[in-house]
Amino acid sequence: MANRDLNAAKKAKNDEFYTQYADIEKEVNAYLEFDPDTFRGKTILLPCDDPEWSKFTRFFAENFERLGLRKLVSTSYAFDSKRLGGRDASAKRPKGGRAVGASLPFWQPTLFETEAPQYDAAKSSAHGKIFVLDHDANGSGRIDLDDLEWRYLEGDGDFRSDEVRRLRDEADVIVTNPPFSLFREFLAWIMEAGKQFLVIGNMNTINTKDVFPLVVSGKLWLGNGFTNGNAYFQVADGTKNSYADGVYDSTTNLVKFRNCCWYTNLEHGRRHQPLQLMSMSDNLRYSRHREIRDVGYRHYDNYDAIEVPYSDAIPSDYDGVMGVPVTFLDKFCPEQFEIVGITKTWFGAATKVYPEQVQIDANGVRKTVTKLNDGAVLKIDEPPKGSTWYEVGGERFIQTYPRILIRRRKTP
Ligand SMILES: C[S@@+](CC[C@H](N)C(=O)[O-])C[C@H]1O[C@@H](n2cnc3c(N)ncnc32)[C@H](O)[C@@H]1O
Repeated sequence: MANRDLNAAKKAKNDEFYTQYADIEKEVNAYLEFDPDTFRGKTILLPCDDPEWSKFTRFFAENFERLGLRKLVSTSYAFDSKRLGGRDASAKRPKGGRAVGASLPFWQPTLFETEAPQYDAAKSSAHGKIFVLDHDANGSGRIDLDDLEWRYLEGDGDFRSDEVRRLRDEADVIVTNPPFSLFREFLAWIMEAGKQFLVIGNMNTINTKDVFPLVVSGKLWLGNGFTNGNAYFQVADGTKNSYADGVYDSTTNLVKFRNCCWYTNLEHGRRHQPLQLMSMSDNLRYSRHREIRDVGYRHYDNYDAIEVPYSDAIPSDYDGVMGVPVTFLDKFCPEQFEIVGITKTWFGAATKVYPEQVQIDANGVRKTVTKLNDGAVLKIDEPPKGSTWYEVGGERFIQTYPRILIRRRKTP
């Protein structure tokens, strides 16, 4: 197999994990608690889904009436395209039909598919499917999972296809766990259509120049979240070897990711609960963090802000800009704070440019670098024990972890 195919396959395998019903239910309930009519009268699109595996379609179909939906549409991505992880997958298929490449399981249509009158062996692995629910198709007196109707899509169900794009344009809310390898493209695809959304993504994406401006402008925020920040997903048979030890649990067939979150522009209550914080003087006396009590709040060398290494140590009465951990976003209440930037990408905000620096790592190894300019910098007197520091023109510095820059909103 060519390297290109291998890489594509690897990427594809890492996109094959499935959200649990309980996580979807818990998240959706947080929006309903805030506003029971969040989804009422709306068309929901669940792209990048696969109802034969995924629980998104099941959850929304089972709760169609309770949520007051107008229409539910879900689309799946063709097996051949998954296997090769690309738009041109069918072009790469050898004669005889089977996709080359990855170690995803071989294509085995389910009984659900083969027993349906519309089953077409020629389309089964190369085409995506569309599932639609909008009326009581079986005359049972209620609209539910049993009323879902399906057919093959014209293409493979790629969310970037004209066909799925048209479905997006007709929808009010887009809900899914999209392929992580295409997350930024997927988010741009939602934003360009100006839709409401609720999608799972990697927390690290928030630092990026495509996503962070959406946070600053209030067009995207974190959802209610996974229990204790731990997200467990079901993996497809044949893909479990792609996960490192400690990520895959063979007894449950689940993988655990610590850095997943829900991104949304739907309102939920937790987002409007202000953090309970102490004043600066109380923090300096009583903070449970020793360095706050011992050292206090240090000022950055390359930006006019103070370093606050823990969200619970944010002083309630400081009026200037504060650099706080990225995990603060999970506690961000827009009535309490304003987000003004992020140190990781700075967006041109840093006030100082350092010339080449000598980096000295924890083992004392010295290297010439330029990366001090990539983040918030603190001046130090003594080299820190057991961590990396920098020397520039006889002065010593350390770089903090990426920080979100915030300012408190004054109460009127
Ligand atoms: C992380 S999984 C989640 C599946 C399902 N939404 C869930 O949460 O249970 C992402 C899915 O997107 C599919 N996918 C990958 N690339 C895609 C693309 N370009 N267009 C549509 N779906 C894609 C993958 O095959 C995979 O099944």
